[in-house]
Amino acid sequence: MESFLIKGGVPLHGEVEISGSKNAALPILAATLLTDEPCIIHRVPDLSDTRFMVQILQSLGATVRFESGTVTVHAKKIKGYADYDLVRKMRGSICIAGPLLARLHKARISLPGGCIIGARPINLHLKGFEALGANIKIEGGYIDATAKRLTGNSMFLGGRAGPTVLGTANIMMAATLADGVTVIESAACEPEVVDVANFLNAMGADISGAGGPTITINGVKKLHGAEHEVIPDRIEAATFLIAAGATNGEVTLRGARADHLRAVIDKLNEAGVSVERSGTNLIARRNKKLKPVDVTTLPYSGFPTDVQAQMMSLLALAPGISIITERIFESRFMHVSELARLGAEIEIEGPSAIVKGGKPLSGAPVMASDLRASAALVIAGLAAKGATQVNRIYHLDRGYEKMDAKLRKLGARIQRVEEK
Ligand code: EPU
Repeated sequence: MESFLIKGGVPLHGEVEISGSKNAALPILAATLLTDEPCIIHRVPDLSDTRFMVQILQSLGATVRFESGTVTVHAKKIKGYADYDLVRKMRGSICIAGPLLARLHKARISLPGGCIIGARPINLHLKGFEALGANIKIEGGYIDATAKRLTGNSMFLGGRAGPTVLGTANIMMAATLADGVTVIESAACEPEVVDVANFLNAMGADISGAGGPTITINGVKKLHGAEHEVIPDRIEAATFLIAAGATNGEVTLRGARADHLRAVIDKLNEAGVSVERSGTNLIARRNKKLKPVDVTTLPYSGFPTDVQAQMMSLLALAPGISIITERIFESRFMHVSELARLGAEIEIEGPSAIVKGGKPLSGAPVMASDLRASAALVIAGLAAKGATQVNRIYHLDRGYEKMDAKLRKLGARIQRVEEK
């Protein structure tokens, strides 16, 4: 297994190019299953998660080529059965269910299971499929969804923690080829959902309202091939903005979308990290002393849960008390005990973490537990004095394209080494 070895204390300086969004690319790749014509998707980040999705598409019978950020998929003839061994590796694989159900009227997919950040149920996906007329059976760890035909319907997709991102994408994809009109109430408003809707519309779907809480899908008879460029990854962008602030550096992000980052930029400004626009670039610099802030994760346009861990690393450096409340996933604080190994003082109280910031961080070996927790440990390691070894970075490789190379270009002393 590989680790990052970081020699901290170097402020980051320079320019970094933001990659395409993982969480938009995954459902968009799944959406290519909706047509028997070729689709071309640009700016797909080269990550283990996007590679898994390519393997899943291939296992279903599609011809796929992934070269220099462009994926070409031709799903001329496909089957509706996805094997456990592939699906279990990535929760995002659930989003092949909608396209399979729409195109083949059947989908048999291994249940994706929980993960370290919480239980991650799929009841809302299934509720949506049932509302469209699918018959769902769960047997032997597999979801068996079948439908004679899918029929448009109105449905409320809000759950315990609000809307569901992949659930909204899944139902939207299923409804594109249904008979009649589907209305999704309490739809997720995330930019990734909008990107999926834009791609589906480019394929000939008739979707309106994406980006708001009510999405209307007029079913069409057939979808055709299309070409699309994935939006920039707002979570990767946020991670670099925070890393600039945490190391007291100045970093220019190329290709990030400020309009997708409003909540993050607002909190960074409050914490003493300025983020300015310069043309299509974003420049982050720490221009004052860091200040504590309270942060609550919420569905978009609130502060993203996928940036909570990274923000905690920054706030561990801000003298005073910050309260970070996690409202999306029930156990997304696995990074707290690892940050403590670097000297951070953080207590968990129910869904909140109380960060007593301002203690100097010093390097130590730490263990990455999930994707965003890994990014938080890298940020803390970059800001800490001395050497930090972040183990199990395969989590990080799922969602960050060449993070070590990008950080090195900004001056960081970070190496990929074999874990000892
Ligand atoms: N939920 C339900 N029932 C469902 C689906 C979700 O109760 O059927 C709950 C979840 O347990 C959670 C909340 O609803 O409490 C939101 O979950 P959501 O369905 O929106 O999450 P997701 O679509 O499975 C995507 C991202 C996650 C990101 C979340 C929230 C992808 C591949 N994953 O997951 O990304 O945290 O939305 O924004 O798009 C990451 O990239 O590190 C990551 C975990």
